[in-house]
Amino acid sequence: MAFKVGLLGLGTVGLGTVEILGDPAQRHPLVQELVIHKVGVRSLDKPRDPRIPKEILTTDLESIVTDPDIDIVIEVMGGLEPARSLMLKAIQHKKHVVTANKAAIAKFGDEIFTAATEAGVHVLLEAAVGGGIPVIAPIKQSLCSNRIRTVTGIINGTTNYILTRMQLEGGDFAEILADAQKLGYAEADPTADVDGLDAADKIAILASLAFGGRIKLPEVYCEGIRHVSAIEIGYAEKLGFVIKLLAIAKRKASEEELEVRVHPTLVPKAHPLASVNDVYNAILIEGDPVGQVMFFGRGAGAGPTASAVVADVLNIAALLKTDLSELAGQPPILDPLIACAHQ
Ligand code: HSE
Repeated sequence: MAFKVGLLGLGTVGLGTVEILGDPAQRHPLVQELVIHKVGVRSLDKPRDPRIPKEILTTDLESIVTDPDIDIVIEVMGGLEPARSLMLKAIQHKKHVVTANKAAIAKFGDEIFTAATEAGVHVLLEAAVGGGIPVIAPIKQSLCSNRIRTVTGIINGTTNYILTRMQLEGGDFAEILADAQKLGYAEADPTADVDGLDAADKIAILASLAFGGRIKLPEVYCEGIRHVSAIEIGYAEKLGFVIKLLAIAKRKASEEELEVRVHPTLVPKAHPLASVNDVYNAILIEGDPVGQVMFFGRGAGAGPTASAVVADVLNIAALLKTDLSELAGQPPILDPLIACAHQ
């Protein structure tokens, strides 16, 4: 049985996704059952990878989310609109959605998940936070028995890359940022990275999952790395610290309220997050009774992010197979863990 996939966006992550799906050897056998049916792009004139047949490209993005043949829509175009409207339309048309779009989920997550629950479809977003690091599913599933106390992360690869290079080799901020863009780490508008907005979107998502409820973006204190100077990094070093852009969500002393913030932070060199360098991300979770758990890996770039996208697609395909073979005649099962995390 084949699952037809519609891909919205053929940028860095879209291409990484095509790459994995086109090379199924030694991967999960379900990869062979995924067929890219249509790919939505902004322009048909741009030269494309020859492995992508021209006839599946379209600029009519609505035709993808409404196509009755498509089972799963992958949204990797980024930005708020038209991504939000297209995901909602896909859901209305009973398509399962996989997205890497932290900005749209942080802002419109409630609307999107409510629509998905009503339509009885899955929306998975592992790639939205931490690139290739599995962190969304572990919070929703493996850690959902815990009372989470803090989530502390380095969750923006671009700023971590910049701070690491400033720390290790000095170097000009603008030049290093240009390198991060060339390597495919930065957002289309790198302001979102440098000013902490991308990390704010991601910590809002993690906090919503870890603590329940919905963290609204204006509630997240946000300060980026523009003003961090090489001199400050040097002084920090002498005092036994490194400067990292941390995203933090924690219960306040009252236990009823949360504080959620993103800002450059002095991190003692012996702290587990201090040695997370370059494009690597890490998320340290403290919960009761689990104690400390840390997730580490490449937080940006085509391959790592596509790894998470395709894993979500495979998980949905596996659920659909289960639904079809064991639950014939019943509506698709909802992801009970999304419900668990949002209580
Ligand atoms: N621009 C983001 C980062 C990409 O640098 O982390 C991954 O979300």
